[in-house]
Amino acid sequence: MTNNLRAVINLDLPGPVISRHLYGHFAEHLGRCVYGGFWVGEDSEIPNERGIRTDVVRALRELRIPNLRWPGGCFADEYHWRDGIGPREERPRMVNTHWGNVEENNHFGTHEFMDLCEMLDAEPYVNGNVGSGTVQEMSEWVEYLTRTGDSPAVAARKANGREEPWKVPFWGIGNEAWGCGGNMRAQAYADLARQYATYLRNHDGNELYRIAAGASDDDYNWTRALMEAISCFGCQKEPRGIFQAVSFHYYTMSGEWADKGSATDFTDDEYYRTMAAAARVEELIAGHAAVMDVYDPKKKVGLVLDEWGTWWNVEPGTNPGFLYQQNTLRDALVASVHFDAFHRHADRLTMANIAQTVNVLQAMILTDPDSGALVRTPTFHVFAMNAGHHDAAALAAPLLGEVPVREVGGKDLPLISSSASVKDGVALVSLTNLDAGSHHEVTLDLRGRALTSASAQVLSGAAPHAHNTPGDAEQVAPREHPVTSEAQHVRITLPPHSYVTVRLELA
Ligand code: AHR
Repeated sequence: MTNNLRAVINLDLPGPVISRHLYGHFAEHLGRCVYGGFWVGEDSEIPNERGIRTDVVRALRELRIPNLRWPGGCFADEYHWRDGIGPREERPRMVNTHWGNVEENNHFGTHEFMDLCEMLDAEPYVNGNVGSGTVQEMSEWVEYLTRTGDSPAVAARKANGREEPWKVPFWGIGNEAWGCGGNMRAQAYADLARQYATYLRNHDGNELYRIAAGASDDDYNWTRALMEAISCFGCQKEPRGIFQAVSFHYYTMSGEWADKGSATDFTDDEYYRTMAAAARVEELIAGHAAVMDVYDPKKKVGLVLDEWGTWWNVEPGTNPGFLYQQNTLRDALVASVHFDAFHRHADRLTMANIAQTVNVLQAMILTDPDSGALVRTPTFHVFAMNAGHHDAAALAAPLLGEVPVREVGGKDLPLISSSASVKDGVALVSLTNLDAGSHHEVTLDLRGRALTSASAQVLSGAAPHAHNTPGDAEQVAPREHPVTSEAQHVRITLPPHSYVTVRLELA
């Protein structure tokens, strides 16, 4: 155990605002995320409102989800929105070729998604179809959703029972265009993104934040191509407002794509490899941001990490195309490490969406397909513990002293991670102890504003493998955690493999 660690926090030096959209979500027509997770249909025995599960909505409202991305992912580039409107029994069926080759009956479509967003009080992020759709189709979807007055699309919306337009702030121009979204090359997609964006109109006061489909991992050339496509060096102008953001995707795993590792059965080495992979997100954000800085030094264009999280081998016995995986304390620590990096890059990173909200990949909620029982995962609790960071001003929280490290793949992985923010007279400090074997003590050295009280919560478990099941739903859940404070110093002991938040009330 180390006991000389200090996090120095200047409470009167607020940095950029941490957008609440860094706590965004993603729900795809994939496995049991939409069907079974959110949507059970009006005739289901599972309690629902207009077909949407009430227990799932109730639980997710605890997280104050700021936005929800839909309908994909890869599915978005084969989704035709007109198939998902009108009387449900008349909607055409299709095959979801990306995810399990199962039938998609289109019962959850545009109106159901917007209804869900209203129930969650989340802003919609609709992802349009570039791969197999047309400019006209996407343009008319925006019109259907957001236009007032009269037009064929508006008349169709009204005929389907929705008089008033919705507000849709976020719009994706396809997904993973380098792969499942059309196997394009960067320049070809960049030109298409310009073309599509041109016809994604701002109707009647609905202002779209258009997000170009971005890179995978460290493909900085892709980001460069997108930035070049909206820049105009010769004419000395700032990037033009064709699209407002570029995205990238990054998934964490302990192995390779061919064998990503088990969600629950992992060695110590795999645990630390996972944490090193999670910490790498910071290098990637910084790398994409550095490319963007060249073209956009005033940071007018946003960087959006619109898919992130752990990706393990599916649970044994489940459909390999459904991406259903358990979620342990290890996943929770992956999330907390990501959030620390997000907070530190709040000047460029405008949104991040975890993949995916229910029953797929690093989910907040798992539902039992037989009993319908709902479980909050360890990752859910990190989102809940971090709600105080939403729209708060980032504070630097560097660690001084001897930060414990572990060598992973020839590099030192720091085992303590920290970040902080302040809003409305309350500072929130996040501390992750990745060390699976030792406690570590940290002192918060607070400067610039007087402290009136301090309290803390901890998320941990018997081992990094700890997880929640319907029979034992509180294995990993936040508990009160002791702190001692003396003047401007707050002392906390971080248990092994734990996540701690410290709430500081300021004078
Ligand atoms: O989240 C699952 C899939 O991962 C998405 O559909 C795709 O965009 C990514 O490859």
